[in-house]
Amino acid sequence: MNPRDPARQPPLPIVIVGHVDHGKSTLVGRLLHETGSLPDGRVEQIRADSRKRGMPFEWSFVMDALQVERDQGITVDTTQIWFSTAKRRYVIIDAPGHKEFLKNMVTGAAAAEAAVLVIDAQQGISEQTRRHAFLLHLLGISRVAIAVNKLDLVDYGEERFAAVEAGIRHYLDGLGIAPTAVIPVSARHGENIATAGGRTPWYAGPTVIEALDAFPDRAAPADQPLRFPVQDLYKFDERRLIVGRIAGGRLKVGDTLRFLPGGGEARIASIESWNRDTPQISAAAGQSVALTLDDEIFVERGHVAVHPDRPATATHAVTARLFWLAADTLTAGSRLSLRIGTADYEVAVEAIHRVIDSQDLGQAEADRIERNGVADVVLRSRAKMVVDAFAESPASGRGVLVRGHRIVGGCIIQGPAEVTTKENRNLTAVAHAVGGEERTRAYGHAAGVLWLTGLSGSGKSTLAMALERQLFDRGYGVYVLDGDNMRGGLCRDLGFSDGDRAENIRRVAETARLFVDAGFVVISAFISPSREDRNRAREIIGPGFNEVYVKAGLDVCEGRDPKGLYAKARAGEIASFTGISAPYEEPLVPDLTVDTADLSIHQSLARLTHYVENRFGRETALGATG
Ligand code: ADX
Repeated sequence: MNPRDPARQPPLPIVIVGHVDHGKSTLVGRLLHETGSLPDGRVEQIRADSRKRGMPFEWSFVMDALQVERDQGITVDTTQIWFSTAKRRYVIIDAPGHKEFLKNMVTGAAAAEAAVLVIDAQQGISEQTRRHAFLLHLLGISRVAIAVNKLDLVDYGEERFAAVEAGIRHYLDGLGIAPTAVIPVSARHGENIATAGGRTPWYAGPTVIEALDAFPDRAAPADQPLRFPVQDLYKFDERRLIVGRIAGGRLKVGDTLRFLPGGGEARIASIESWNRDTPQISAAAGQSVALTLDDEIFVERGHVAVHPDRPATATHAVTARLFWLAADTLTAGSRLSLRIGTADYEVAVEAIHRVIDSQDLGQAEADRIERNGVADVVLRSRAKMVVDAFAESPASGRGVLVRGHRIVGGCIIQGPAEVTTKENRNLTAVAHAVGGEERTRAYGHAAGVLWLTGLSGSGKSTLAMALERQLFDRGYGVYVLDGDNMRGGLCRDLGFSDGDRAENIRRVAETARLFVDAGFVVISAFISPSREDRNRAREIIGPGFNEVYVKAGLDVCEGRDPKGLYAKARAGEIASFTGISAPYEEPLVPDLTVDTADLSIHQSLARLTHYVENRFGRETALGATG
């Protein structure tokens, strides 16, 4: 099998745009015919039908016939027409209007990568021609060929062609588009579609098919940087399987993967496969795989695995070109969910830059986006988003906007947005004179955080203090950050609303980060009920973060009720009490679980100590620093 065999390459998605009457359908009919892409006898049949009805045959009838089949639901994919040349396969993305086209493009329903713009030689450049060209510009489609059609109606006149060519080149130039070819065409008579028919002897350029074939190949998805969005995690025997579909690039056993946004790294230990005799050692874009890693680092759904030398961007804010579908108006401050790959990010529209009306494609400075409007916006998320610029990686550079469970828009990512606020714009971090590795060597252990999370009364503080004692006695630099203690000082101004708890956890995480920087093992004991807040703590602290679930059911904790708070909460004396009147979100894949309902304090402590020795202990530390 030849991997370069055109039949094995993904088809190049193209779009044919232009004014409605300028001959798009005729051109498509011709293209299908000249490339032998129509079923045998189809053209003869349409010819006969036309004759029967007393109509002259038109190539656009071929399109109409396809349309009828589609309307009858014969083909499922209503917007795609396929053909192949000797060089490669193509799929024509067909959208009834530019509104639909825009919508399909930004939501990823259809993603054209190259375009043919059709212009009637007699009519010349119309308003719609300009709008469609602008649309190509908006969507970042730069591979564009121009077919100046209906040349038969101007007697194949070179001058008329030259005038249209000059006009369109000038207009496209203003949009930053350089067409790869401007071709004099008669779609009806087949001139310069597949072959030069001899009626334009003054033209030496490519035919339409040659122009299409001359579009450079896009990098095959497998040759792009690795993007592996994690879809699910499964425990299987003692192994943890990380499951997903590779969106771009390839991976193999032994590769080091970095999981963004957290940044944890581990090597691929195996690619698990069912129904296979020989173990799989590599996989590429498009394949679904289940991986195991050589280290139990934190990974969850929505994370994206990359190779460390070709990472994606992890950022709190992006600029995006957004297409708005919902009936209400979108304004700055609106909150939505942005879905990229398998990740869902809660975002707010921070700024609206320019708004483009999708009907007339007029641009305006505005602060709101109406239904079917397009705008350049800044989207900000509390959690870091893993993104690529659409231009570099269409698969990971596109998102869908969701509200409730409805899709309300789509967007293509242009890149990370400036994150500096007015207040910290003039700050520059200063580097320390003593580095992390030096501290590790001096103290004989690595630094990091054991982030204890669990219900009130689950045993976090008790275990944290006992562990601190034990680790200190073994020579560790160790310190406990505890909820009740922190809330008496640094976090004195905070209560127990969702927002206050989020801020509490942020301050704790920043504090823990400083201790880690100083070379300490930090044990933090906070309920930290929100998964999102804990993930933010993980982002702040980085790979040294270890989530420990101190697990005990509500009945057990309430039974213990060491501070009498459950009784008060039941009596309605404490609002938003975790487990009673406020939620606790269990860790999905904690780095360690200590089940205090089952284990004695002594046993729980032994687990924690064992984990710390493995993770931060003298051996690991020395191994890590060589
Ligand atoms: S967190 O939710 O923001 O992580 P944190 O661990 O700092 O909470 O503080 C929890 C401690 O605050 C509990 O151990 C308890 O003593 C006290 N507390 C007071 N009110 C509440 C409440 N509404 N919910 C939970 N804990 C509360």
